Amino acid sequence: MRPAANQTGASRAERRGPEPETFEVRRRYVRFSEQDAAMLSEVGGVVARHADSIVDRFYNHLVKFEPLRSLLSDDGTVERLKASQKQYLKSLFAGTYDDSYAESRLRIGAVHDRIELEPQWYLGAYGLYLDILLPYVIQCYPDDAARATRAATALGKLMILDVQVVLDAYYETRERRAVEKSEQLAAVGELAASIAHEVRNPLAGMKGALEVLRGELSVKPSNLEIVDELLAQIVRLEGLVRDLLTYARPRALSPRAFDLHELIDRVLRLYKDEADVNGITVHRVSAPGTGRIFADPQAIEQVFINLIHNSIQAMEDGGTLTVDAQSAGGFLLVSLQDTGKGILPADLKRIFQPFFTTKHRGSGLGLSIVRKLVEQHKGTVEVTSQLGHGTSVKFRIPESETD
Ligand code: HEM
Repeated sequence: MRPAANQTGASRAERRGPEPETFEVRRRYVRFSEQDAAMLSEVGGVVARHADSIVDRFYNHLVKFEPLRSLLSDDGTVERLKASQKQYLKSLFAGTYDDSYAESRLRIGAVHDRIELEPQWYLGAYGLYLDILLPYVIQCYPDDAARATRAATALGKLMILDVQVVLDAYYETRERRAVEKSEQLAAVGELAASIAHEVRNPLAGMKGALEVLRGELSVKPSNLEIVDELLAQIVRLEGLVRDLLTYARPRALSPRAFDLHELIDRVLRLYKDEADVNGITVHRVSAPGTGRIFADPQAIEQVFINLIHNSIQAMEDGGTLTVDAQSAGGFLLVSLQDTGKGILPADLKRIFQPFFTTKHRGSGLGLSIVRKLVEQHKGTVEVTSQLGHGTSVKFRIPESETD
């Protein structure tokens, strides 16, 4: 029943209203009958006579809540809103509940979303309206409890219908914003990738030229240090460019069956010196030789490189890195557990966001790339961490069906 998310510009709520059949179906679903409609119109006169005091009570309650007070702080807004609320009350008891009624509710929802009012506030306010309005409805039938109950129930059902429509507006706004955001991110990503692409070759040229010069120049040792620092910076930039391109322009996978343990051991050998220098012991739990997966070896190697690199950086004062890979239910469950400094809970929620980094020199893409590559393999990845005690990364990759 929700509106399509592919609208652009002004929201559908503000232009067309709900799908033609939707409101009628919803009315039938909550059993809101013509009799209910007639009863509400019957009590409309009483509500209209008390409209000023009803609306005052409504706003007097809202302003007791700090987040709402700021929205209602200027007198002009409140006066305008009181007039809108009186209109709202009038239509609530007008006795006509058709598509144009639904459309007016969708518009109210769209306005609240535009001012970024959280749903908890405007949805909750329907409860407030029920609380204020029900006594007026019931007092219309002092000697007929059954009729009073029917009128009160009719109002409750209508409020639920209102809430449903308002939720349509809420979902539509959220979906539209998500689409806009992902389009913006894609455009920025593409721009970043184009720049990275342009920068890659000149960087490689500069590095090559500097290496040649370094070998041929007879310069003072202090100047050699400068050249080495330049080279180190170029290597760092190359890493950034590589990460950006891997993330923004992932190459097509070339999956094949291979032994994951061999790959893990190969990557660990690459990092052996760095681990030794940092006082890190590597503990391999699983026995090599089993665990064939069907995947792109280069991509999986990249996953391990990024994760092991992170673990080593998290253990500046030494520690233990435990790498485990076990077969379970058609997947290979891989876990890397370090005893490093851990991740703050607030940061943990953001670690997969591109460009989020807590490192002085990180690209902020390492874990985003890990997740993207694992997900490209229909796997999943999760990270848990305890500040001061270490971080654990677990991911699953489908096993190869053939040996
Ligand atoms: C039962 C719940 C509510 C109903 C039926 C309702 C109804 C309305 C209506 C009819 C309008 C005018 C829409 C238009 O211009 O077309 C409106 C706007 C607005 N509402 Fe509500 N409202 C509700 C809850 C709230 C709450 C809880 C707040 C909290 C402060 C709020 C704040 C506003 C504001 C600030 C606007 C004006 C937006 C603008 O024109 O700048 N509303 N509302």
